[in-house]
Amino acid sequence: MKGLELRNRYLDFFKSKGHTVISGAPLVPENDPTVLFTTAGMQPLVPYLKGEKHPGGTRLTDYQKCVRTNDIDEVGDNRHLTFFEMLGNWSLGDYFKQDSIRYSYELLTKVLNIPVEKISVTCFEGDENTPRDLEAANSWQECGIPKERIYFFGKDDNWWGQEFGPCGPDTEIFYDTGAKPCSDNCNPSCDCGKYVEIWNNVFMEYNKKEDGTLEPLKKKNVDTGMGLERILFLLQGKNNVFETELFMPIIDKVKELSVNPNDASLRIIADHMRTSSLLICDGVSPSNVGQGYILRRLIRRAIRHMRKIEFDIDKITEVCDTLVLSISDMYPELISNKDIVIEQIKKEKNRFMNTLIKGEKEFGKILLKLNEESSTIMDGHNLFRLYDTFGFPPEVTAELAKENGLDVDMEGYKRLFEEHQNKSRQDAAGTFKGGLADHSKVTVAYHTAAHLILESLNRILGGHVDQKGSNITSERIRFDFSHPEKVQRETLDEIEKMVNEQIDNKLAVTCEEMPLDKARDAGARGVFDSKYGENVKVYTIENFSKEICGGPHVENTSMLKHIKIIKEESAASGVRRIKAIFIDE
Ligand code: SER
Repeated sequence: MKGLELRNRYLDFFKSKGHTVISGAPLVPENDPTVLFTTAGMQPLVPYLKGEKHPGGTRLTDYQKCVRTNDIDEVGDNRHLTFFEMLGNWSLGDYFKQDSIRYSYELLTKVLNIPVEKISVTCFEGDENTPRDLEAANSWQECGIPKERIYFFGKDDNWWGQEFGPCGPDTEIFYDTGAKPCSDNCNPSCDCGKYVEIWNNVFMEYNKKEDGTLEPLKKKNVDTGMGLERILFLLQGKNNVFETELFMPIIDKVKELSVNPNDASLRIIADHMRTSSLLICDGVSPSNVGQGYILRRLIRRAIRHMRKIEFDIDKITEVCDTLVLSISDMYPELISNKDIVIEQIKKEKNRFMNTLIKGEKEFGKILLKLNEESSTIMDGHNLFRLYDTFGFPPEVTAELAKENGLDVDMEGYKRLFEEHQNKSRQDAAGTFKGGLADHSKVTVAYHTAAHLILESLNRILGGHVDQKGSNITSERIRFDFSHPEKVQRETLDEIEKMVNEQIDNKLAVTCEEMPLDKARDAGARGVFDSKYGENVKVYTIENFSKEICGGPHVENTSMLKHIKIIKEESAASGVRRIKAIFIDE
């Protein structure tokens, strides 16, 4: 079974159980400045898990592209990835533990034909606030999982939640690879590789507030996530994700073009190139901040490993071609964005190659000096200089240092970096000093401003303008849109004026749910890539704009301050980027 078939079987199964198939979100969350990337299928659904009504109903399923970078340094072993696909199903106050477990069991054993002997599960053992999850354990037993393969663990293993927001106990499903137990105590919570976690069913009963306390949710939800790559390699009888069709063609190609390949470097290159390409498809370009910086790190680390294995760097386009060809059945956006992907990766390669060789020399000198001094730690100053002057992300330097038996003073680096940033910030003083003190209110207001901006861009620049991405923090909005050339200051002034007039006009902002085709007929703007027949929300700003959007928004444009466009630049070829802030007048 190939990856695409696995995805389709999952979605079809949950569709047959009354779930609406919804579209996953882009990798860069549109309205959530608290995280850089979408890291789980539930993330775009947080408002609904907290009680807002979802237009698709109370049973949902989707596949979600996810990027997690906390394990970035582990990539190279046989299981860590920076990009993965999460298959998920949700109950929004509909079914709970028993049905969720029954569905999982049926899908695994009847649709994917996994022998029941291969399955072990873990449940929450309980603590002073929450009882032992006997309901989950009993449901597993009723399905046919014997008691000895039902384990109980504490919060570290069987509780799921992010820093804030919906959370609760979970039950995790493991596949037994059949490897020898690592000890008498070998169990699914150990890291030896015998048990591979394939699915996590979270029973979301609580909301974790910003002060850290738990409050019960109005409705109990189920949130599940299955890692597609992992279950795929197990179903295919492979040893790890890198042996599946998702990675093998890329690895083979890099190997073919290298003099001295090794497994860890090949995996790092394949993983990082895949993640980078999909990030570029979702509008990220390499830079020194935020998502752009992670992308830069990924590309630069891949390139450093390419040099290490003596890969013919001029053939990097061939690797991109192979990558697009091998996974575009699952991610067709790679085909339409292929030129941008190749352009961005090549540009970043050229930028880095200019300094890489010099930086490596410099690193060699530092190494020599440290050896002379019999020191085994590279200090923050050297790390900062390699970053600032030679474009070496400190993590890349750290890796290089490790290969040469050195540790690095990351804390020292961070201090210097922050000093440097504070100085740059002071230099660019005069940014937003909000009256809208509440962080979340400001971001909602910026979100409504985004609708005013898109409509104004269309009216002033022309109907070709589509939104290509947006990123909101409590300090500014960044908005990307298609347009072939630089927008002159006078035109930016006109756009600003049109937006500010709508704020002065005190326009009502209203929301309606309707099927996608009806939204299109009503002239709503938006990306029409949702599933056919899917219900969507349409936000209307009285007599001005109509957009498909998940919300939330302010109720009236009078709640916004006037905006000022402070920057206009290129984001990618054919895509312009503006930054705007609310101003006090
Ligand atoms: N949110 C849970 C996870 O990320 C289940 O989807 O594992």
